[in-house]
Amino acid sequence: MTRRPALYGLAGGDGDRDAGPARQPEIPASPGRSGAHVPVMPDESLRLLDPSRGGLFVDATLGQGGHAERILSANDSLRLIAIDRDAESLEMARRRLEPFQDRATFVHDDYRNLPEILERAGAGRSGSVAGVLADLGISSWQLAAPGRGFSFQTDEPLDMRMDRSSGPTAAQLLADSSTEELARIFFEYGEERHARRIARAIHDRGVHGPILTTGELASLVERVNPRRGARLHPATRVFQALRIAVNRELQGLDQFVLDAVEALQARGRLVLLTFHSLEDRTIKTTLRTLSHQCSCPRSLPRCACNHPDRVALLTRKPLRPSPQEVAANPRARSAKLRAAERL
Ligand SMILES: C[S@@+](CC[C@H](N)C(=O)[O-])C[C@H]1O[C@@H](n2cnc3c(N)ncnc32)[C@H](O)[C@@H]1O
Repeated sequence: MTRRPALYGLAGGDGDRDAGPARQPEIPASPGRSGAHVPVMPDESLRLLDPSRGGLFVDATLGQGGHAERILSANDSLRLIAIDRDAESLEMARRRLEPFQDRATFVHDDYRNLPEILERAGAGRSGSVAGVLADLGISSWQLAAPGRGFSFQTDEPLDMRMDRSSGPTAAQLLADSSTEELARIFFEYGEERHARRIARAIHDRGVHGPILTTGELASLVERVNPRRGARLHPATRVFQALRIAVNRELQGLDQFVLDAVEALQARGRLVLLTFHSLEDRTIKTTLRTLSHQCSCPRSLPRCACNHPDRVALLTRKPLRPSPQEVAANPRARSAKLRAAERL
């Protein structure tokens, strides 16, 4: 089957929505997908991460290594721990970063295991790191890669796992989840208005055998919710939601931010790029909590409010990509960048 130019956003649909499920996600219609991942907001990320200081840095989401290459180029003595749960991405980035191999450690793991990863690398869980970058979600390469099941542009097994060595596939999740659970996933993670009807249709279809391929799922959604001239393929939001559920992308994100802050040395920087309103909300709330200053009355001899005051926010509001960047790289469209400095 020939691969048509893909709608961007399929399972990676980066809906950027702060107002909750009532608003429609903004998913770019056509990225001109080539498969190569273009790093998002590279100048802003590097400025805030400030790797020219040197020291130990962590790229928690290595992807194709675009951000990592810039980090490693910023200072000749800087060391980088580069993490990705996708073994194929990690291998591609490792080849790209060969010129820096004596300063980079590549780790196939989940960034939510950051404390253990740091310990294994001999860095210690606390106070050892000068900067952490996390560019969340999925890469353009993953979306375009054949056989990964993230996209319905070709009919292939419905996998969607970033780490293909563990966890249930999207097909298994569809088969094992109740109608209510599927409706919740489609509504919460995809803001799909027809979540219930689609979940019910998946359940009813189950009597004829499970849904095993991207094409079968896309056709089923299209039957329930015909396109009627819409810009977006009707299955886009369902694919995005399933991907988030399969990879448990929202679980443990707050703890990762806490662990990353714990890992930072004083004046160390944390830079976080998100593409989904639920991710951004979690990060905003966690950083705000960590940045709360003591609110006790001055008359009290010591703090009684237990506000942590662990970081200073470097971005009161999230930074957004410039119109020029969005024009050149539509994937950047829904990006939000937040950064903080360890006190
Ligand atoms: C948007 S891409 C990063 C692109 C990268 N900054 C670049 O310039 O090429 C996100 C990457 O994070 C990885 N990823 C997503 N969730 C992860 C997790 N929980 N642990 C480790 N890696 C993860 C994905 O496999 C993907 O390769």
